[in-house]
Formats: sequence, structure tokens, C-alpha cells
Amino acid sequence: MNRKTFLKQGCFACISSSFLLSALESCTVVKYTSGKLTDKGILVSLDDFISSNKVLPYIIIRNDELQFPICIYRLDANNYSALLMQCSHQGAELQVAGDQLICPAHGSEFDKWGKVTQSPAAENLRSFPVSITGDKLFIDLRKQV
Ligand code: FES
Repeated sequence: MNRKTFLKQGCFACISSSFLLSALESCTVVKYTSGKLTDKGILVSLDDFISSNKVLPYIIIRNDELQFPICIYRLDANNYSALLMQCSHQGAELQVAGDQLICPAHGSEFDKWGKVTQSPAAENLRSFPVSITGDKLFIDLRKQV
């Protein structure tokens, strides 16, 4: 393979993978909310799970008062899990990838209930009780599930 062919094929592969990656990212709607912080926890509207008339599988709370974001998975209409997005291994911030949370630091993975599915993390994620009151979710930050 000569240099010109290599550059052509390399650029095509690079552009193709970039296009594929951006196409995949555009398929995933990630919705952020700051929620409403109270002295006991944080309130989130159930409407935050709706986007373009679809129910989202999760949303992320980002609030300046919180050291790490909280991912809320909708398990079904009446059950949610609220997970602190801080890796239990060495504390890096996690990234959401569908039904799992992935640590960019050393590769630990967690399911949507916060259980470790891939080491090196050995402990589950910190998770909080979630209750539904009317059209709001309340995440109790005083307790841990
Ligand atoms: S800090 Fe997450 S795997 Fe090490």
C-alpha cells in the first residue's frame, strides 16, 4: 500500500467512524435537570422523563450544590433508582451508557441498580431512596439504600 492509498483509506475510516459515533450519540437523548434542592433531598418533576412524547429511561441531576451528579433510572412507572455518579473504586465521575454506568478512569461498570458488574470497583454505588408524590420524585439525600 502506498502513502496516497493509505491516507485515502485512513481518512475514509476516520470519517466513517466519526460519523458513526456522532450518529450513535445523536440517537441517545440525555436530559439534565438541576432539580429543586430542599433541606432533606431533591425534588424532580416526573415531566423531566418526557422528551418528544417519549419516556426517557433515565435523567441526570446536575446541581452546583451536589459534588457529583445523580442518575435517576426509571425502572417502571412506580419505581426509580437514584445513583450517585461517583465511582466506588477511586471516586471518578461516572458516565452513563444506556443501562449501565461506566467509569472512564479504570473501567469499572455498574448496572442501573448500582451493583458492580465489572471490577476493579468492589463496592456498589451509593444510592438513595426515591418516593413519588403527585407529579414529583423525591430523592432522599439523608439516607442510603
Ligand atoms: S475510579 Fe472508577 S474504576 Fe477506578
